[in-house]
Amino acid sequence: MEGRERRRLTFLGLALCCLLFIVGQQEERRLEAAAAVQAGEAVVTGARLYSENCRKCHGSRGEGLGQLGPALADQHFFTGRMAEVGWLLDLDQYVAATVAGGRMMATRPLYAGNGTTAVMPPWALDQGGPLRVDEIIAISRFVMHWRATALGTIILPVIDLPPADRGDPATIKAGGKVFSTLCLSCHALPDLPGGQGGPTLAGIGVAASGRTPGLSATEYIRQSVLIPDAFVVEGYDEKTDTQGCGALLSEVQLEAVTAFLLQRN
Ligand code: HEC
Ligand code: HEC
Repeated sequence: MEGRERRRLTFLGLALCCLLFIVGQQEERRLEAAAAVQAGEAVVTGARLYSENCRKCHGSRGEGLGQLGPALADQHFFTGRMAEVGWLLDLDQYVAATVAGGRMMATRPLYAGNGTTAVMPPWALDQGGPLRVDEIIAISRFVMHWRATALGTIILPVIDLPPADRGDPATIKAGGKVFSTLCLSCHALPDLPGGQGGPTLAGIGVAASGRTPGLSATEYIRQSVLIPDAFVVEGYDEKTDTQGCGALLSEVQLEAVTAFLLQRN
């Protein structure tokens, strides 16, 4: 082979290597991006499943609900709990294992129960529960996503709208939109035919102030969405009703929909 020919082949070989390297890098980035999207989707699925299955006892935001269930979005849960119970694997595995098998007995007297029924039922299909393994993993991903706020790595801004905003026509209009999107599937209003999953909210602006002593109409409406089982409307049973009230909504959306409902006299 002539020298020139050999040089050309070497050059072509090098060019091919470079090309493969670049394509390889792009492929790696593509796979990383796909994995990130998949992880994000698992958290979204987990949020929905958490809302349907867990928030009744652990609270909408993992804040814990009295004697029903402990806080999960909590500093101690992320830092001290594994040592306390002697768990040697990772925390996400602790969450998944607890969810899969449930808990017959509580580890703390506050959550003791009556000794005959599990304080937290099992959720895995092979333990008689309703959830597949991938669904349980998605829920534990969602629970783990509270780590950043629980440890103070991310401090969420406190959105404190002045009460006067609740009378603002623009806020009320925005609240109407939130209602149609997130609440109408279960609640009807006189001028808005809606689903039957929850009670009609006709006259809720007035009724809300009489529901729970000490709670204003505003506080009651917020509580209905954030802690659905704090007050259960007659005819709705928290035990059999798996859907429950509420939706995943932002503080601004909650303020707006509350303003909208307060007008409903
Ligand atoms: C009927 C109420 C109830 C429901 C529903 C429920 N839990 Fe629990 N959960 C509890 C109680 C009670 C404990 C035990 C507390 C203890 O051991 O001291 C617990 C414990 C846990 C723990 C361990 C907490 C710790 O501090 O060790 C995790 C994690 C957990 N639950 C997640 C979930 C998830 C996720 C769901 C939904 C799939 C769920 N739970 C549904 C009541 C409930
Ligand atoms: C999946 C069905 C469902 C969705 C979606 C839903 N709710 Fe409910 N809601 C219920 C059920 C069931 C009740 C009655 C049980 C209870 O009191 O917890 C209820 C009760 C209420 C009450 C108390 C009514 C009363 O007469 O005291 C208010 C207020 C309320 N919901 C507001 C909302 C708002 C606002 C939204 C949207 C952000 C919403 N709900 C979304 C099912 C739902």
